[in-house]
Amino acid sequence: MNMYDIIEKKRDFHKLSKEEIEYVVNGYVDGSIPDYQVAAFLMAVFLNKFDIDETFYLTDAFIDSGHTIDLSEIKGIKVDKHSTGGVGDKTTLVLGPMVAACGVPFVKMSGRGLGHTGGTLDKLESIKGFDFEISIEEFIKNANEIGMVIASQTGDVTPADKKFYALRDTTATVDNLSLISSSIMSKKLATGADGIVLDVKVGSGAFMKNIEDAEELSHLMIKLGEKYNRETMAVISNMEQPLGLAVGNSLEVIEAIETLRGNGPEDLVELCYRIGTKLLLIAKVAKTDEEAHKMLEETISSGSALEKLKEVVVEQKGDVRYIDDYTLFPISKNVHEIKAKESGYIKSLNALAIGKISQSLGAGRETMETELDLGAGVLLNKKIDDYVEKGELIATLYTNKEDVNEAIEHFYEIVEIGEKNPVPQKIVLKEID
Ligand code: URA
Repeated sequence: MNMYDIIEKKRDFHKLSKEEIEYVVNGYVDGSIPDYQVAAFLMAVFLNKFDIDETFYLTDAFIDSGHTIDLSEIKGIKVDKHSTGGVGDKTTLVLGPMVAACGVPFVKMSGRGLGHTGGTLDKLESIKGFDFEISIEEFIKNANEIGMVIASQTGDVTPADKKFYALRDTTATVDNLSLISSSIMSKKLATGADGIVLDVKVGSGAFMKNIEDAEELSHLMIKLGEKYNRETMAVISNMEQPLGLAVGNSLEVIEAIETLRGNGPEDLVELCYRIGTKLLLIAKVAKTDEEAHKMLEETISSGSALEKLKEVVVEQKGDVRYIDDYTLFPISKNVHEIKAKESGYIKSLNALAIGKISQSLGAGRETMETELDLGAGVLLNKKIDDYVEKGELIATLYTNKEDVNEAIEHFYEIVEIGEKNPVPQKIVLKEID
């Protein structure tokens, strides 16, 4: 077997065998196959596609490239959720405590953000001291004692995906359904929750730009989950505009805490209830959607979800005073208001553009080495379909950078104000069980 023949085979639209795909993955990880050949291979896959078998083989090879984590010592049906990446997506910080407060272990290994999408670990880092570098023993202990744990993904899990993802990121081969689903599901399957709900984002701020692709991606990931006996469901959600009102690390954590206090923005709250309902059904603590919804509501009205978040922060060495005193969070000192230049309805607030503006203010990374400004970001006052009067506040930009004229101009360019949209925005576009 040699790499040249495999690239040629995929280039010419032929199906690859399990052995050929393993050969590529193992050879790239051990350094015997160079970047340029894997880059050519990825472009051939991107253009000519993998079928379901090839997608399974790639996922298997990613999982086999590293360690798997056995969570069988955690009592009960453990659940996890995964978002395919969006702007302002703080659902994990809201959902985790809600689900754990219902008695279901919520176990999550998270990553950092890259580009315009944020990562849960970066967000939580705005709470001083919060520690995600925890051992597997602690992970299991916290899951059993508190019911919720968030840790960083260890380097030993799916190292092949790490190398492939970095290469895809620089060779314009990220948004391919087989490559995305193998990448996401290999990490989920190697780290062991019993049930997974996927939040597949669609829209300007997401990898998937249309609902058909989002559906196909969801079905593919569900099939991968089923192959490994993990109950997997998907919610396809709207990423045309940011989720909620806050984009940026501290700003998003504060919004998540407010949501746990019952003051969350409508779209975020609805999405958390839909995903949370599925997680409770998978965990078999509720039999119907209504029952699950009621249990989740109770965690907000009784304050038990907020208490759960506090327990997690204490257990993972974070400063718990932050939860009740938002002035402790880092918030950037330069504040710029964006005011409506005319009256009318907000017609569009492009999520990708707002993600990139927030990134340019210091909230996101350009490269993995970039140091984040945890207090930077965008706080929206209005969302699509809201009415604004001329001069009314649409958003506030936070940054520690001195020169942000470009970001301000860009924001004015992307806010479209005009007639009311004929069809109102919906947050949940489809559910796949
Ligand atoms: N997230 C991942 O982990 N992998 C992808 O390929 C896309 C999003």
